[in-house]
Amino acid sequence: MIKKKSIDKTAARVDFIQSATGVILAFFIMAHLLFEASILISKEAMYQVTIMFEGYYFFGEKYPGIISFLAAAIGVIFILHTVTALRRFPASYREYKIIKKHTQRMQHEDSSLWMIQVITGFAMFFVGFVHIYIMMTQPSNIGPYASSSRVVDEFMGPLYLVLLVSVVLHAFVGLYRVTIKWGFFEGKNTKTSRKRFKLLMKSAIAFYLLIGLASLGKYTYIGLTHDFSDGIKYKSTQESH
Ligand code: HEM
Repeated sequence: MIKKKSIDKTAARVDFIQSATGVILAFFIMAHLLFEASILISKEAMYQVTIMFEGYYFFGEKYPGIISFLAAAIGVIFILHTVTALRRFPASYREYKIIKKHTQRMQHEDSSLWMIQVITGFAMFFVGFVHIYIMMTQPSNIGPYASSSRVVDEFMGPLYLVLLVSVVLHAFVGLYRVTIKWGFFEGKNTKTSRKRFKLLMKSAIAFYLLIGLASLGKYTYIGLTHDFSDGIKYKSTQESH
């Protein structure tokens, strides 16, 4: 009896950690994609955002180590989220086929959303870590030219495309599922609330895919057209040193 109680508690805790880390990552990615879309304004704007994260406006010096630290912290949250979510994965191909059959037969949209989470989560498991590791180990190679060179010359473009589609779907489907699961903002009429949340989820997916694709397009364009014979460092027009 006592044993059963402690097992139940652990399951609830793991569930909570999975939701909490998921929400943190979802908010992180919303901010990330917006900051990174500064390239759509101009190269200078993206450069200013980069040095802001390097602490330039706070310390008067650039410390790329701050980006390494941030990437490591996000990496830890990413691992925690992955580990706590893994137990939800279908344990075998047979199990996966059964779930898929049910989803198709039932035409149940919320089960299809669960399938989206499994597939996009699986993709991110591989490509997400590659990106976080590079950000951690090469924090000073971020900027309008350095990033564009990585996208084109280091062939990160296709990987970012897979990561973008996966993370945007995963983040917003995840947020939708968390609000339903924990009963946030439900209101009097659950059916109407669900409908509204679903519309919000779809609009956010469309918006972030659009700005993500546009940014990736701009990095690719710079990577293809810029003359890198002077290196990958961007020289700001506004910096004093
Ligand atoms: C603190 C950790 C992170 C930093 C510093 C960071 C930084 C960057 C930078 C500078 C770029 C522009 C391309 C480049 O320089 O290579 C980029 C692209 C991208 N990042 Fe991150 N990133 C981090 C974590 C993540 C995580 C955890 C995800 C999702 C799992 C993610 C998803 C993406 C995607 C999808 C792109 C391409 C965006 C687009 O298509 O516009 N990033 N990131």
